[in-house]
Amino acid sequence: MSQEKLDAIDNCLFELLELVENFNEIRIKSNKELSSGYFNLAKSKYSLGAGTFTSLSYDKRMTCGAKITCEKEEEKELVQYKLGGEMYEKKVKSSEQKSENESNLKNRNNEEKTEKEETQVEEIKFRNPIYWYGVLVPQSLRSSQKDFKNEVKIKQNLDNEITLHQNTGNLVWDGAYILSKYLYRLKLRDKKCIELGCGTGLVGISAWTYGADVTLTDIEDVIPLVEENVNFNVDKVLKENDNTNDNQLTNNIKLSKDKIRIKTLNWGVENCKELDTFDIVFGSEILYYSKSHKALIETLQHICNKNTLCVFIYKTRNLGEEHFFKLAKEEGFNIEYIDNKKLIEEFQESEYHLIYMKKN
Ligand SMILES: C[S@@+](CC[C@H](N)C(=O)[O-])C[C@H]1O[C@@H](n2cnc3c(N)ncnc32)[C@H](O)[C@@H]1O
Repeated sequence: MSQEKLDAIDNCLFELLELVENFNEIRIKSNKELSSGYFNLAKSKYSLGAGTFTSLSYDKRMTCGAKITCEKEEEKELVQYKLGGEMYEKKVKSSEQKSENESNLKNRNNEEKTEKEETQVEEIKFRNPIYWYGVLVPQSLRSSQKDFKNEVKIKQNLDNEITLHQNTGNLVWDGAYILSKYLYRLKLRDKKCIELGCGTGLVGISAWTYGADVTLTDIEDVIPLVEENVNFNVDKVLKENDNTNDNQLTNNIKLSKDKIRIKTLNWGVENCKELDTFDIVFGSEILYYSKSHKALIETLQHICNKNTLCVFIYKTRNLGEEHFFKLAKEEGFNIEYIDNKKLIEEFQESEYHLIYMKKN
């Protein structure tokens, strides 16, 4: 099999891993709604008395309140899931509407037809099981229903959301978020920085707000998104600064758009010839692909001098991260692991690691 094909298979695998991660996040949200739903249901059961909600409560009126339909977008070959059905409320309203019609009909003395309408109204109304419990429905039962309904919506979004991410650079990875929150610990003002595999560009854009002179880089496919994000965010920050005229907002740092630029950079010795050395190199979640490690080290060799600090963040995914560090050491880089206590609190116990690397 050709190298090209092998690389394509590897890329598919990484896309798959990303989808799995997104899937898990959504599943956690969904489970949260489900457990909250069951908890509220248990509370209702407690307040209404044992035996209120048993399988005997369910009868033939129990019909589905929502349907999920599946449509394929022809060009993109993507399947979109749409939530159909009324999820109860509208049906009840429409039953009220029908009650009005019903009285009009009565006025017209068309009794036979009215009787038929009446049954229909009742049937629609009873689709919402909450009405089985009288007028004084406990709040926890309503909350429980709300949680279960939210859960259905989350499931519906599940597939639609994850199919949006067709490559790894078009979403903010947790690493970028953690590193951006760490930047205040570094002296970035007027430092010449580069971000490798910047994806959405969060880390680089954040470094720019601390007064760094930043070059954001990624492969060609990702660049339009980086451009969009830089233009939007940089213009916004500059405009807010102008409006408030508050230099304290940026610690008296003079921000300007010419201190942030974007460059296509596919790692490897051939592609970085035009690049100079930098004071700081950022890399967030870029170690997941061991086939690229050699090219990444070649790039680092070219853009780092003895004073350059490389700040990398990665998650242990057992995708050969250790291979990268072994190679880096062989190529003369020192590696220092930063204490996780210095990361934002929610990630201190995580599998994320922040490292500093410097050439010997
Ligand atoms: C997992 S994403 C991380 C994106 C971003 N740094 C973040 O943390 O949100 C990996 C990024 O590395 C880029 N990348 C992968 N291989 C690369 C290569 N050989 N040269 C340049 N960029 C590469 C991808 O395009 C992608 O944007």
